[in-house]
Formats: sequence, structure tokens, C-alpha cells
Amino acid sequence: MNIDYEKIADGALMVSEALCKTAKDLYRSGRDFIKEVRYDTEAFRQRDPAATSTAEILLLYSGLHARTAHRLSHKLFKKGHTFSARLISQSAKFITGIEIHPGATIGRGLVIDHGAGVVIGETAEIGDNCTIYQGVTLGGTGKNVGKRHPTLGNNVMIGAGAKVLGPLTIGDNAKIAAGAVALHDIPSDSTAVGIPARVVSVGGVRIANDLDQIHIPDPIKEELSALRAESEKLRRRVIKLEKAAASAETPDEKKSATPKKSTKKTEN
Ligand SMILES: CC(C)(COP(=O)(O)OP(=O)(O)OC[C@H]1O[C@@H](n2cnc3c(N)ncnc32)[C@H](O)[C@@H]1OP(=O)(O)O)[C@@H](O)C(=O)NCCC(=O)NCCS
Repeated sequence: MNIDYEKIADGALMVSEALCKTAKDLYRSGRDFIKEVRYDTEAFRQRDPAATSTAEILLLYSGLHARTAHRLSHKLFKKGHTFSARLISQSAKFITGIEIHPGATIGRGLVIDHGAGVVIGETAEIGDNCTIYQGVTLGGTGKNVGKRHPTLGNNVMIGAGAKVLGPLTIGDNAKIAAGAVALHDIPSDSTAVGIPARVVSVGGVRIANDLDQIHIPDPIKEELSALRAESEKLRRRVIKLEKAAASAETPDEKKSATPKKSTKKTEN
């Protein structure tokens, strides 16, 4: 039997080249992964005054854990491994209380502070250096298909409990106040408050009063005031009518009323 040593050598060379490439790729992606996690950790240090050390953030911050798990699940999702991607995201949700769909696209330096109850939908896009507090939803309205979740620019802040719903855009450096519900685009450098969220300032300059969502008229109070005014009007009218009726009584009627009293007296 003739052994073709040349062919075996070629095959071995090809295998070693492939192994080398895989090792290099793994090294590169591992190095990039560590670089990104380090960047995220630094973002927590800068934006959370309560953070005392890098070790504390790495070990105890659920926002960082959820985001790191999302880095892995997103990679799998993009390669079509949807089940394993979902498995990672659901496990991360179970541990951290933060649900980030593997399909969501997220930039560097996302800080999810406290985190519990945060939900980030499949087609949501988040720019760099954004901050999200507990109870935030980047969700859909149920009316859209395809792209149905919000797009956040860079340096956006979404306050605790705020809901940002639909395929709307939140511009760079915008702030969505705690408890707000954003349903329409919010421009860059602005602050939006209330339900539905209205822009109250752009670039630090206050917007006119017609956009005031703080001193909103209370419709029930207004209705009660209108009813009270109406009943007062009716009461005055009744008094006026009673007076008019009394003065309209004829002298004969008055006379007939008086003898009745005197009759009673004589009877007694
Ligand atoms: C909106 C926010 C970012 C402040 O932004 P800002 O641009 O500095 O805005 P201002 O403080 O000047 O407030 C502008 C107006 O919005 C009102 N406002 C501020 N926050 C509001 C809120 N959450 N809901 C309703 N109105 C709010 C202010 O009272 C003010 O009204 P006025 O003009 O009648 O006085 C801040 O109030 C906020 O909500 N931060 C969220 C932080 C958070 O979630 N922390 C959780 C930590 S656990």
C-alpha cells in the first residue's frame, strides 16, 4: 500500500491553519468582549455615585450582568441560534429581573441602574452611554409590525418607571422623566415629562405654557364647580319665584286666611 505522505502533510497543514484561525478569532472576540465589559463597568462607576469599586460592580450589579448576558445572546441571535439566545436572555431575566430581548441592538456603556422590571423589546435600538432606571419599558404599542420598538440616540436618560412605546426616536442627550409615557418622537437635548410625554425644555430653555403637563386642569373638579354654580343659580331662582308668588297673593286670599284663625280661636 502506497502512503501519500504529501497529501497527509497538506491535510495536516490545512487543519492546523484552520485551528490557528479559530484560536485567533476566539482570542480577538474574547479580547473585544473583555474590553466592552470593562467599558460598561467604567460607565457604572461614572454614573452611579453609590458604586464604590470595580469588583462591586462586576460581582453585584444586576444591570451589568443583564447587559453582559445580552452580549452573548445577541451574538447567538444574529447567527440564527434563536433558542439558545432566548435561553440565555430568559435565564438572565430570572436572575436579574431585567428582560432584554436578544434581538435588541445596544451600544457601549449602557447603565441599567437598580434594574428590576426593565423590559427592552426585540427591535429596540439603544445608542452609546445611555442610562435606564428600574421599571422602564422600551416596548411596542401592539399596533406595529416589524420595527415596533423605540430607537434611543446617544447619552439618553430614561427615568424610573417611564414607558417608551412604539417605533419612535428619542434624540441624543434627551431625558425622559420618571413616570412619563413617551408615544411620539422626542428631539435631541430635550426633557420630556408627563403622560403622554411632552417636551418641557430644549437645550435647557423652557418651552411655552401650552405644553405644561404639570398644572393640568382637573376635569372632575371643573365639572363639580359647574354643577355647584348651576345649583346655586337654580336656588336663587326658586327664592325669587317664591317671593313673587307671595306678593302676588290677592287681598281677598289674605282676608280669607285671617278669619279662619279667628274662627279657630272662638271655637276654643
Ligand atoms: C426630568 C428630570 C430628568 C429633570 O430634568 P430637567 O431637564 O432638569 O428638568 P427640571 O428639573 O428643570 O424640570 C422641568 C419641569 O418638569 C417637571 N418634572 C421633573 N420631573 C418630573 C417628573 N418625573 N414627572 C413630572 N414632572 C416632572 C418639573 O417639576 C419642572 O416643572 P416646572 O417647570 O413646572 O417647575 C428628573 O426630574 C427625572 O425625572 N429624573 C429621573 C431620575 C430617576 O428616575 N431616578 C431614579 C433613581 S432611583
